[in-house]
Amino acid sequence: MSVIAGMKKLFSKKRPAKSQSGDEHQLEQPKPEEGAAAEASSYIIQPEPSVVAEVSSDGQAAVEETAAAAVEEPPQKAAKKPKKELLPPYDGPVLEVRNVHRSFQTGSRIIHVLKGIDMEVKPQQLVMLKGRSGSGKTTLLNMLGGLDQPSSGEILFAGQPLQDWGDQRRTALRRKEIGFIFQAYALMPLLSAWENVELSLRMADVPRSEWKERVGHCLDLVGLTKRVKHRPFEMSGGEQQRVAIAKAIAHRPRLLLADEPTAELDSKMGAQVMTVFRNIIEVEQVTICMTTHDPTILEVADHVYEMADGRFLK
Ligand SMILES: Nc1ncnc2c1ncn2[C@@H]1O[C@H](COP(=O)(O)OP(=O)(O)O)[C@@H](O)[C@H]1O
Ligand SMILES: [Mg+2]
Repeated sequence: MSVIAGMKKLFSKKRPAKSQSGDEHQLEQPKPEEGAAAEASSYIIQPEPSVVAEVSSDGQAAVEETAAAAVEEPPQKAAKKPKKELLPPYDGPVLEVRNVHRSFQTGSRIIHVLKGIDMEVKPQQLVMLKGRSGSGKTTLLNMLGGLDQPSSGEILFAGQPLQDWGDQRRTALRRKEIGFIFQAYALMPLLSAWENVELSLRMADVPRSEWKERVGHCLDLVGLTKRVKHRPFEMSGGEQQRVAIAKAIAHRPRLLLADEPTAELDSKMGAQVMTVFRNIIEVEQVTICMTTHDPTILEVADHVYEMADGRFLK
């Protein structure tokens, strides 16, 4: 079954023929054994979905990961293990990066992309990575989100060494504690704004009883209460990016990673996105690390790291 067909089936099956309650956003409660949330929760202890290896700059791989995890049957229902606590309490920075290098081998050539990165991101900061195309921003962001591993060096997420974690634990971390936003919005095209945000809660194993309030709150935070039934193609780029933000924060991640989130937007819509970022840092106590090469939005940052050829300029 294709990813899109799977998504359609997943949502259409559970939609009531006609809304009795007048609440058209609430999906009908499925029987517990067919609940996708139950399926998603089992992925905490299932192997990582096979689709994703690395995230391309347009975020397509992330869409595929989400969709594949939502529609694939789990291999075999194993007995449920109790879930381990992912992160012990920690008062320090959300991210501490120490002397990180990353090289890629292509054929017989080794390309040294990150050449000793040191950085720190404290709770509720808005930190920007600035630099020309090709300087290594996306490569670094992927590593901060546990999508890729350094060749050497350390990345501590809330004090925990990500580079020592296995794939399953990093997948669980991404689903629970990190939200991703990409240049090209990365929304599911057949789902409404409401359903796109709801999907993120489904994937993060949030109890269904909390969905309605949380989705409404997140779409309100990004100023889209009047657009909840619209699908991506019926919205402007700025609106789509704001849905993507609502989707990325819905499961209450502690870190939001955004790769060139304003690159496709005009300056007015870009400024709206930055206002939303500032607002969610306040209201949701989230921490944001984003890349950009737009000098006009750098003023909004608490700290800017300037990158050139795999290093930070002092
Ligand atoms: N998987 C990979 N294999 C080989 N080279 C890569 C890979 N990922 C990134 N690179 C190279 O690393 C450099 C930095 O890329 P990237 O992190 O995407 O930069 P930026 O986001 O700043 O534009 C580029 O030269 C790119 O070609
Ligand atoms: Mg990039």
